[in-house]
Amino acid sequence: MTTINIKPGEKLQLSFDTTTTVQFNVVSDVADPPVVVPPQPPTTVDPNAPLRALAAARGLIYGAASGWQFLHDDVYAPVFAKECGLLVPESELKMVPIRPSATTFKWSGVDWLLGFAQQHGMLFRGHTLIWHLALPDWFNSVNAGNAEQTMRTHVEGCCNHFKGKVHSWDVCNEVVMPADGRADGLRNSKWMQLMGPDYIDKAFRLAHAADPDALLVLNQDRLEFDGTMGKDCRKHTLALLRRLVDAKVPVHALGIESHLNLDPGKFDAELFRRFLADVASLGLKIFITELDVADKPYPADVATRDRLVADLYHDYLEVCLEQPAVTTVITWGLSDKYTWIAEQRPRDDKQAVRPLPLDASMAKKPAYETLRMLLS
Ligand code: XIL
Repeated sequence: MTTINIKPGEKLQLSFDTTTTVQFNVVSDVADPPVVVPPQPPTTVDPNAPLRALAAARGLIYGAASGWQFLHDDVYAPVFAKECGLLVPESELKMVPIRPSATTFKWSGVDWLLGFAQQHGMLFRGHTLIWHLALPDWFNSVNAGNAEQTMRTHVEGCCNHFKGKVHSWDVCNEVVMPADGRADGLRNSKWMQLMGPDYIDKAFRLAHAADPDALLVLNQDRLEFDGTMGKDCRKHTLALLRRLVDAKVPVHALGIESHLNLDPGKFDAELFRRFLADVASLGLKIFITELDVADKPYPADVATRDRLVADLYHDYLEVCLEQPAVTTVITWGLSDKYTWIAEQRPRDDKQAVRPLPLDASMAKKPAYETLRMLLS
């Protein structure tokens, strides 16, 4: 055996004839060169970075809903683009605006929003395919004989138009409504009356066939409520998801709307934590899809009110973000200048509502600081 010692850094050139067997044993009596660890780049993100960057650094998505007309506001649009990594059309992709007739689609409003999202490197969410609201007048003449074809035309038309361009689709919206009295807790909607309860299964299967790469979401309201309504909504939503997963229906995530409308101190964190864990155990992702806080029950004083709104953002999101299945947080608007709460839940004292992270002049409110802290 021949031993050749070489030093670190020395080169050794060997040549062999084809019959030589060579065995290399690395035997070093020379100390290994010290390992030099290059200085690591800082892993913390600038705490003043916009919400989309803070969330992304944690592997989360932060975004918001907007109507197209609000993004024509020269003050709002740049703030929205800076803070949001995802855009949801607030109403432009509902059936009324995009389906002028049973055979036609009108994409102008929603395509403008998609262009805005693409221009600013934002993800784009499809909201919503099948809903009991925003049904056009012509839908009144749909009957049990052609309802499935109507659904097919709509779902395929939308999914094909946005194929490869959506982060996710809300395939079915607000399908659970225990107050309607069905044993399965499902809403007695027009779709239900025309097609029966498996209209939900059919919608998901159609969407998946049209765009097999899209994340498909069941989006549901009232899940975070206290009391009987919230309890029943959680129970029936979970049962529905379980049934869909067992039947191998392509549902990938639960959207929890999160229009928080609670008296101060009335959020039951433990119950909600358990619900999130139950959903996650089905192998589903969870998106917080429409977060805002109705400030109707809070006192008029702005500082007190903003603090109480921020406290609810905090108590709620802290529980949500503990759950690893929660990957996405979307607020239903960004600034109090543009919020559906103004019409939906106006204050009795007629003061302007303050449900969102920025005030009407784009100043950061305590709720923004809460988001910043929890998304970091
Ligand atoms: C709301 C919009 O914010 C309003 O501007 C519109 O007038 C009605 O719809 N749940 C949903 C959303 O899934 O589509 C709703 O958006 C709010 C409740």
